[in-house]
This record gives sequence, C-alpha cells and structure tokens, in this order.
Amino acid sequence: MGILENKLALVTGAGQGIGKDIAKKFSSEGATVVILDSDQQRALEVADEIGGTARAFFAQIEDEPSVRIVIQKVLNNYRKIDILVNNAATLGLKDKIVNVSLEEWERVIRVNLTGTFIVSKAVLPNMIENRQGAIINIASQLGSVAIPNSAAYCSSKGGILQLTRALSLDHAKDGIRVNSISPGAVITEKLTTIYGSEENASKVLAPKHPLGRLAYPSEISGAALFLASEESSFMTGSDLVIDGGYLSQ
Ligand SMILES: NC(=O)c1ccc[n+]([C@@H]2O[C@H](COP(=O)([O-])OP(=O)(O)OC[C@H]3O[C@@H](n4cnc5c(N)ncnc54)[C@H](O)[C@@H]3O)[C@@H](O)[C@H]2O)c1
Repeated sequence: MGILENKLALVTGAGQGIGKDIAKKFSSEGATVVILDSDQQRALEVADEIGGTARAFFAQIEDEPSVRIVIQKVLNNYRKIDILVNNAATLGLKDKIVNVSLEEWERVIRVNLTGTFIVSKAVLPNMIENRQGAIINIASQLGSVAIPNSAAYCSSKGGILQLTRALSLDHAKDGIRVNSISPGAVITEKLTTIYGSEENASKVLAPKHPLGRLAYPSEISGAALFLASEESSFMTGSDLVIDGGYLSQ
C-alpha cells in the first residue's frame, strides 16, 4: 500500500519535466492524480502514461475564471483535493531589466506568482472544509539568490517563498500545511531545449553546483512526496532546498 493511498493530488504543469515526475511518483504511491496544464496534448499523454484514475484538465494557471471552472470540475468528479503542487511556471525572456518590457515583467509575475495564488485560492475552500491539505509550491534556488538577465523569474520565485510562508500562517489552524521546494538546475525538456542538449546544459550549469552535476527530476519528486505525505506532518512554511550545494557558496 502506497503512502498516498486514497489521496487526490492536483499537479499544475505536469505535462512534462518536474511536474510530470511528481505526478508519476504520487500515482505510484496510490494517489489519484489530476494534471492541470496549459498544453492539452502533453497533459493527455501524461494522464495516458500514468493510466488508471489519472485525469488531465487544461487551463492557464494565471486565468482565474478558467482555473475556477477546472477546480469545480475536479471537485464534482472527486469531491476533494488533498494535495496541491503548484509547479507550472515560465522562465521569461532573458535580458537586462532596462530592456525588459512592462508586459513581459507582468506576464512572468502573473504566471509564476499570481498563478500560484489563483490556484491555491481556488483549492483552499475545499481543504478548509475537509480540515486537511498539503500545498507544495515549486520555487527555485533563484528565489533566494539572483542571476543576471532574469529579474522577473528571480522575483517571482522569491515571491513564491514568501507566499508559501504567508499561506502557511493563514491556514495552519485549518489543518493545511504549505511548504516549498527550491531546486537547483534540473534536467528537464525545458533545459535541454534552452541549451540544445543535456550535455550542453550540463557543461554550462553543472560547475555552478558544488556537487558538479544537475539534478534528476526524481530527486525533486522524492522531496515533493515527502512534503505531501504524513512523513512531514510537523512541517509548514518551510523551504526544502535541493540544489547540489548552490546556495551554500
Ligand atoms: N528545470 C529546472 O532546472 C528548474 C530549476 C529550478 C526550479 N524549477 C521550477 O520547477 C518547475 C517545473 O520546471 P520544469 O523545468 O519541469 O518546467 P517545464 O517548462 O519543463 O514544464 C512546465 C510545464 O508547465 C506547463 N505550463 C507552463 N505555463 C503554464 C501556465 N501558464 N498554465 C498552466 N500550465 C503551464 C507547461 O505546458 C509544461 O507542461 C517550475 O516552477 C520551474 O520554475 C525548474
């Protein structure tokens, strides 16, 4: 019997990468998994791959009316949401602040930070009613330190660390735990697309991590499983840093 038996887990951005690995791991531990992604094709393929009770729903997390409709559909089907993983995000264009348009700044903050707020707000009433829930926000080591040409992304991830703490305080008495994960660079489709190949991504990014390599998605999904389960029952408002030593330098 898995440690998430009888749990309903909603994972945003599970169409690929870290979110997909989290969805697969949760399912292998007995959870019914619902994927919420803006990419219909990818989400359907992942739900198919997981099989069983897994379902895919489509929405942009920053579009509140669509998110509300999807969450209502999920609740009509399953009655409850026990676990929410806010994982979907965008990197944004890489450039200096002076060259970043207000539209691009607002788009990245809107998807990454406001999207996390929107999905959490839509799910919270059900968790409050059930007097239990676990929310896991995927931040980044770049929420704690900045890199050049990524102001909106870094700011949005720093905001997620604070939103995590604020949510944890607002809803501790409702039996809801809220934690975040700050991964360092993880080998995903996004990274290999940006750098052309896994090898190139490794060449550039691995030296920035004291462990000398990038993370595998399973090293992040294992932490998400811990935060979603009773194994972390006294944790809320915390950030789990999984960065190969990046922030210790
Ligand atoms: N990959 C890394 O190196 C790394 C490092 C630190 C943090 N992170 C964080 O981990 C999370 C997952 O990263 P990844 O590399 O797996 O991402 P990815 O880009 O490979 O996948 C993101 C998924 O989210 C979906 N998505 C994007 N925008 C969306 C939106 N507006 N609404 C709904 N769905 C949307 C995409 O369709 C895709 O399926 C993100 O929050 C990212 O910031 C990643």
